[in-house]
Amino acid sequence: MQETFTVRLFKSTDLDQIISINHECLPENYTTFFFMDLYERYPETFIVVEHDGKIVGYIMCRIETGLSSLEKLGNPRKGHVISIAVLPKYRRQGIATALMQEAMKNMVHYKVKECYLEVRASNNEATTLYKKLRLKISRTIREYYMDGEDAHVMSRKLPFEPDSLNET
Ligand code: ACO
Ligand code: ZN
Repeated sequence: MQETFTVRLFKSTDLDQIISINHECLPENYTTFFFMDLYERYPETFIVVEHDGKIVGYIMCRIETGLSSLEKLGNPRKGHVISIAVLPKYRRQGIATALMQEAMKNMVHYKVKECYLEVRASNNEATTLYKKLRLKISRTIREYYMDGEDAHVMSRKLPFEPDSLNET
C-alpha cells in the first residue's frame, strides 16, 4: 500500500463517510445505531483507511464471547468481521488486506482466538482476499442473504502473523 494511505481507528466524525461507502459497495446496510454500537463496544476493530483527508475503506467487527466455561472447553472467543468495503476507485492496492490485517491484530487485544466472517458464495474477489489471509471456508449457510444467496463462512485461528504469509 502506498504511503499516502493512513490506516487508523474509526472516529465518530467518520460516520457519514462510512455509511456512504457501505451503501455504494454492499447491499447489506445498517442503521446509524448499529454502526455506533459496534464502535462503542469494539473500537479497536473498527478501522478506516484515509487518503487525502477522505475515507476510502473501512472494516467493522463484533467480538463474540462464549460462556467462559465453554471458552475453557475449546469454544473460543471469536472476532466476527461484520463488514468490509473499499471504494471502487481505490481497489487492488492492498487496502482491504491492510484493513483485515489491522483488525486481526487488534482482535487479539480482546483475547480473541479465532476470526470469522460470512461472504456471498459468488463473491470471488473477497473470497480470494480472505484466502490470501489464510482464512478457509468452514461451512456454507444456505440462503443466508435476503436475496436468497448462500454464504460461505470463512475462518482462521489467531494470532495473525503477517510474516507467515511469505512462506509457501
Ligand atoms: N479480482 C480478482 N481478485 C481480487 C479482486 C478482483 N476484483 N479484488 C481483490 N482480489 C484479491 C486479489 O488476490 C488481491 O491481491 P492482488 O491485487 O495482489 O492480486 C487480494 O484479493 C487483495 O486485494 P486488496 O487490494 O487488498 O483488496 P481491495 O482493497 O481491492 O478490496 C474488497 C477488496 C473489499 C473485496 C473490495 O473489492 C470491495 O469493497 N468489494 C465490495 C464489497 C465487498 O464485497 N466486501 C466484502 C463482503 S464480505 C464481508 O464484508 C464480511
Ligand atoms: Zn456476519
